[in-house]
Amino acid sequence: MPSKDTVGKTLGVALALCIACSVVVSTAAVMLKPAQEANVALDRKRNILAAAGMLEEGRSIDEQFESISTLVVDMRSGRFSEEVDGENYNSIAAAKDPDQSSRLEGGADSANIGGRRENFGVVYVVGDRNAPDTIILPVRGAGLWGQMYGFLALEEDLNTVAGLGFYEHKETPGLGGEVDNPRWKALWPGKNAFRDGAVAIEVIKGTANREGPMAAYQVDGLSGATLTTRGVNNLVQFWLGDDGFGPFLSNLKAGEA
Ligand SMILES: Cc1cc2nc3c(=O)[nH]c(=O)nc-3n(C[C@H](O)[C@H](O)[C@H](O)COP(=O)(O)O)c2cc1C
Repeated sequence: MPSKDTVGKTLGVALALCIACSVVVSTAAVMLKPAQEANVALDRKRNILAAAGMLEEGRSIDEQFESISTLVVDMRSGRFSEEVDGENYNSIAAAKDPDQSSRLEGGADSANIGGRRENFGVVYVVGDRNAPDTIILPVRGAGLWGQMYGFLALEEDLNTVAGLGFYEHKETPGLGGEVDNPRWKALWPGKNAFRDGAVAIEVIKGTANREGPMAAYQVDGLSGATLTTRGVNNLVQFWLGDDGFGPFLSNLKAGEA
């Protein structure tokens, strides 16, 4: 009996299978997108709460986040702004758009964020926006393998660190990845960010002298990960500095934000 198989039939079946599979995959991708976006937003809120030391495990993140206001800062004037909607503003995308960002001239890009800084920044405030109990600032900068994204929280004196945490980075687990180690993160709360109005906090190579005059400003580096340590130092100093949230924090302290 002659075979019913022909090249045309084989290709037809293969094509039909490809089309069916691609329809299934695309439908799944489209249908799951809102759920993925919701999870990203939830993870962001969780990290903001964690940096502020406010995260209570087992309680709804959305409910806990109700005590936090999402506000926009004009990074050029260092004042609150209503010009963009903080809930839907992507500062990382804005930093890549010349119309929505400013060039960091000379050696100003000390955190290596790509040479441009967004014109608006989104900050998270607990309590009164003009006299926050805690303020959480987004921070980012280059580690060894890529950009590290996190949040730095300051207490009501706008000087004492409430916490630091990264929600995305590409550092090596066990080396630079130790930025996620709760024991290292526990070194941050209580440190002072500014001394005589200038950024003084630093992440040093090795262990800080607990009794030294700079003890309140120094955080131990990560052992075996000097490059990640330097990255964290640079990004914290950048975002607290003149091209980051420095002018805004000064205005806020003076009641002029
Ligand atoms: C596979 C591999 C992964 C590494 N990952 C990191 C890292 O994530 N962060 C980092 O600072 N150094 C990392 N290093 C080490 C750096 O190359 C460099 O040796 C180190 O930062 C020096 O730190 P130390 O002076 O504390 O020893 C890695 C090295 C290798 C071989």
